[in-house]
Amino acid sequence: MYILNLENRQLASQYVAIELLKQMKLKPNSVLGLATGNTMIDVYKYLKTLINNNHLQLDQIVTFNLDEYVGLSADNEQSYHAYMYQQLFKHHQTWHKENIFIPQGDTGNIEQECLMYEQYLKDKGPADIQILGIGENGHIGFNEPGSSFESVTRVVDLSSSTINANSRYFDSIEDVPKQAISMGLASIMRAKRIILLAMGENKKEAISQLIEGDISEVLPASILHQHPHVDVIVDNEVFEALDQNKVQRLERHLS
Ligand code: PGA
Repeated sequence: MYILNLENRQLASQYVAIELLKQMKLKPNSVLGLATGNTMIDVYKYLKTLINNNHLQLDQIVTFNLDEYVGLSADNEQSYHAYMYQQLFKHHQTWHKENIFIPQGDTGNIEQECLMYEQYLKDKGPADIQILGIGENGHIGFNEPGSSFESVTRVVDLSSSTINANSRYFDSIEDVPKQAISMGLASIMRAKRIILLAMGENKKEAISQLIEGDISEVLPASILHQHPHVDVIVDNEVFEALDQNKVQRLERHLS
């Protein structure tokens, strides 16, 4: 695991967008694991521009999103379907609808949806790159603290910390769904390469724990220490909060 301090939101987001661009150019039928949340807004902003500037063909690119709220339909503006169309997919005509995978949160048979999603991931994956944000409680996807390292796509109960953090996107905290469909930790770990992006004051604690703490289901993101190719991209604010001896020890271990 490498920690790269890219100074600020702009540089960090551009780096992630450029890595996605390179992957898509290198392999026109790449599989991309995508994430949502405030962290990714500028990544998609730059990616949209880079796709245009490079006249990229997107028709063979396959995308898998990490999660979706249970109970929200694709046209609900708080859904991650709506987020992805708004931030990325609606801006280019060459995305192929059949190649875009986001769990369906409002289906009648939610268990079946989870099984199908995991199977699609197995059939079409693994992701060449999976991008990740991190929750203040160390979740990746919606794999909350205590999630099994063996977990696959399933329905999860959102923790009160996640419901609180995400209430900023809803009119009131009562409107935040209490459950989601999320890829599991084992599903995420199958990706060939993982880029985790964490910026700003409210991510300091989670990244400190990731760098300094044990590998444990208490901090779901800590499973990433067991993956051979993970870049953790941070800004100055997060980087300066880290124990630099621990950062160096982590990186010495790799060289
Ligand atoms: P955020 O969410 O980007 O909105 O902070 C990240 C996450 O919870 O994984």
